[in-house]
Amino acid sequence: MVGLLQDKDRVFTNIYGLHDWGLEGALQRGIWNGIADMMAMTPEWICDQIKNSGLRGRGGAGFGTGLKWTFMPKQESERPHYLVVNADESEPGACKDREILRNEPHRLLEGCVLACRAMRAHDCFIYIRGEYVLEREHLEAAIVQAAEAGLIGSNTKIGWDVNIRVTHGGGAYICGDEMALLESLEGKKGQPRLKPPFPAGSGVYGCPTTVNNVESISVTPEIIRRGAEWFAGIGRPNNTGVKLMAASGHVNRPCVVEEAMGIPVRQLIDDHFGGVRGGWGNLKAIIPGGVSMAVITPEQAEGALMDFDSLKELRSGLGTGTMTVMDKDTDVVRAIARVAYFFKHESCGQCTPCREGTGWMWRVMERMVTGEADPKEIDTLLDVASQIDGHTICALGDAAAWPIQGLFRHFRHEVEERIASYRARRPHVQGATLQAAE
Ligand SMILES: Cc1cc2nc3c(=O)[nH]c(=O)nc-3n(C[C@H](O)[C@H](O)[C@H](O)COP(=O)(O)O)c2cc1C
Ligand code: SF4
Repeated sequence: MVGLLQDKDRVFTNIYGLHDWGLEGALQRGIWNGIADMMAMTPEWICDQIKNSGLRGRGGAGFGTGLKWTFMPKQESERPHYLVVNADESEPGACKDREILRNEPHRLLEGCVLACRAMRAHDCFIYIRGEYVLEREHLEAAIVQAAEAGLIGSNTKIGWDVNIRVTHGGGAYICGDEMALLESLEGKKGQPRLKPPFPAGSGVYGCPTTVNNVESISVTPEIIRRGAEWFAGIGRPNNTGVKLMAASGHVNRPCVVEEAMGIPVRQLIDDHFGGVRGGWGNLKAIIPGGVSMAVITPEQAEGALMDFDSLKELRSGLGTGTMTVMDKDTDVVRAIARVAYFFKHESCGQCTPCREGTGWMWRVMERMVTGEADPKEIDTLLDVASQIDGHTICALGDAAAWPIQGLFRHFRHEVEERIASYRARRPHVQGATLQAAE
């Protein structure tokens, strides 16, 4: 058997787009099956099932999806309830939601209807990354198909009306943060709002709102159809279910796969991604989720499981589950400097530690790459990173600090050697004689 997940447990049966993504194909794959029966259940019952399944948000933070749904008001009032689906997916390396949007759009729409029922909402926005043009076209066509079939819109035949609208992002990574996304959705500049108030109390247009990732929403109808125990039985406690995982970088077969949570990282890479370029022994480092988590070493990766808790124990994280793999040809210092540039570029500039700190860290990182930095700057850099981490309005600040902290946790010696060699070659650099003599 390749991987851990058995074929019978797969949810995303068309992630490679081999079959019809439209309504007819979706119906053949069991999507929309029993939707009227699901709508007949109470919101409390649906939330309980999702809670019991152990599903944790697939957008990066891993918050319990069922629990999040229960934060919405229990009564409908004059303030409408909204579901907002986060299809921004702008982090480098993240590419899993895209496969759902273009190849399984009806699975997402069905999930939207179910989630709306669970949260007493009749309106749903899907906020999609502007660059996802084909994905948007498929999604919009699927919305028309579902409306014509009486599955969404007004006076539907399923017993709960949900209007679904698609909104395009303008290409800013920060709009993936749920609070910036809400601002952008309202037509404003995409800058994260302060929490509290949380979206369930005051979200889009000041109304109760829940923001969920595409994958989190898409998997929920299958949980109801097959039962919470089925989902909870895959993976391990607190890390349950199926998950889309991906690799980019130095693997022989970069792709997206559906796997069981908790598959060993090495097995995932060897079985699905064709192994590391040049073999496992040629592995230098992995960033497990996109680029916003701390790097892990080959020794750590060897024993790690691809889930929230295992990677957290290594002071990294699952993130979106879309890993960046680097082999020994990689200049890991340069790679992390490039990541630092990305976060500097995408900072919305609203809070001082992030606005000033991301640019400052990137500039110092560039000097670490060439070796021009002063050895003392390593500790200063780590000090600045720790002052950004946890001290900003949104998690972009943390995301900028973690890769740098990870780099120095595991590869500090490489930077030190680089600085020493730069100085040894340039006697005029202050401290070079001292350095070379050591
Ligand atoms: C800078 C930044 C970018 C983010 N980008 C995304 C994204 O593209 N897609 C996503 O689902 N979540 C993204 N998130 C996380 C969201 O804020 C939010 O936690 C998530 O959409 C909640 O969905 P979930 O509970 O289903 O995981 C981002 C967070 C930050 C701080
Ligand atoms: S952490 Fe950065 S991106 Fe987030 S609100 Fe502050 S300045 Fe903006």
